Amino acid sequence: MSKGKILLVGFGPGAKEHMSGRAIAAIDEADVVIGYTTYIKLVQDQLEGKEVVKKGMTEEIDRCIEAYEQAQQGKVVALISSGDIGVYGMAGPTYEVLLKSGWTPDSDIEVEVVPGSTALSACASLVGAPLTHDFCSISLSDLLTPWPVISRRLEAAARSDFVLALYNPKSGRRTGQIVEAQRILLQHRKPETPVAIVKSAYREAQNIQIVRLDEMKDCKIGMLTTVLVGNSSTFLEQGLMITPRGYANKYSSITGEIKEGEKRGRSLSMGLDGWQECVREYLRDGLQQGRTPSLREVTNYFDMPRGQILSAIAAGNEEDSAGEFSAVAVNDDLLKLVQDDASEWGRVRVVVRSEGDAVTELMLNAGDFKSRGEWLNIENAHFHLHIHWRNVAAAWMLKRGNSLCSVHFVDATGDAVFNLSLIRSEGEFDTAALKHYQQVWQRQVNNAQPS
Ligand SMILES: C[S@@+](CC[C@H](N)C(=O)[O-])C[C@H]1O[C@@H](n2cnc3c(N)ncnc32)[C@H](O)[C@@H]1O
Repeated sequence: MSKGKILLVGFGPGAKEHMSGRAIAAIDEADVVIGYTTYIKLVQDQLEGKEVVKKGMTEEIDRCIEAYEQAQQGKVVALISSGDIGVYGMAGPTYEVLLKSGWTPDSDIEVEVVPGSTALSACASLVGAPLTHDFCSISLSDLLTPWPVISRRLEAAARSDFVLALYNPKSGRRTGQIVEAQRILLQHRKPETPVAIVKSAYREAQNIQIVRLDEMKDCKIGMLTTVLVGNSSTFLEQGLMITPRGYANKYSSITGEIKEGEKRGRSLSMGLDGWQECVREYLRDGLQQGRTPSLREVTNYFDMPRGQILSAIAAGNEEDSAGEFSAVAVNDDLLKLVQDDASEWGRVRVVVRSEGDAVTELMLNAGDFKSRGEWLNIENAHFHLHIHWRNVAAAWMLKRGNSLCSVHFVDATGDAVFNLSLIRSEGEFDTAALKHYQQVWQRQVNNAQPS
């Protein structure tokens, strides 16, 4: 008996001219073609003389089992799927069924995945060039994925300014998901952000709508639609939706004039090595203009966690200062710093922010911090302050001219957990507290010196 073979074929968006040569050849080679009824219709002209197995929408696993069983009989089986079979397609479930049945890549049945042009590339090509910068795809189908997972991904992608391709945006029964997606996206994107709604790309019923993000939920959207949502730089011109690749960050025109401070073929001045210098320049400029931004303003402006901004300030020196700010990373045991050192600073101001941005400011005695298990606590008649110490991963001492002496504790991602600062009375720090703070600072500087 000849060896069976399973060809997992992505045939592209639908039109024959957008099928890859290998996809056409793979279907020609097959004895049996298995697919969802609509897909079978799309490749009808290639099916003469072949055994055709049509399955319904909900029979995905049946399609995989059928493919395996037919291949075990020595047949060449093409399991077909629109777009790319590995993108929200049948490649994953087929491998899962095969592996569960004891199949291995060395076994008699060969498996080949034939890639195809996925819906997001097909749809993008019809509306201009919306995907020329970082993008991600999210399926709004909650048939197999819990909504909290989808919601978290939408939130993260929107916050990170990805262009978004929304697959499975809506069906007869699933009508609320696109409404909720719009609500989440509007928390991070402007209402006028361009959105392309492409139905049945490269098929007879092709339909394109270009709308604003705040109009998206009221548009005609169905099972065969992909929705492309622009990022903060995506624009519409002459009916085309374009996301710039970023040339404007480096060149004053696309013809090649390089901007001051940038170098051809090198990272931007705001690249990995340069962005920290930009933080310090921003703070120096603020000082020159007579207004030093707060640490929170700088964090928001650069959209980086507090720990990263503190690290940029700490990397400054006399020639490349951070304006009024200076910082040093704490190299000591962090808990010891709070319990032993800070207890010498008398009254301190402790600031803790809630996730919803409520700010708690407490004037308390640093000597009252008590460590209990995983918690750092201060309890008195008026309040209980509990800091989950396990979340504290690093700390920086931060000074701002003669007006601020503080220590900032951050978590592993660099987000603020809490900070404490020395309190001034009539504009002056307590002399002993200030002296001790400076000694602790110097100790961090000394610890940081390479031995
Ligand atoms: C189960 S996914 C299959 C994706 C497919 N494997 C691909 O790579 O394009 C089905 C979703 O793909 C999108 N889609 C597939 N073909 C499309 C087309 N021709 N035009 C627009 N969207 C399409 C729609 O969002 C649809 O709800």
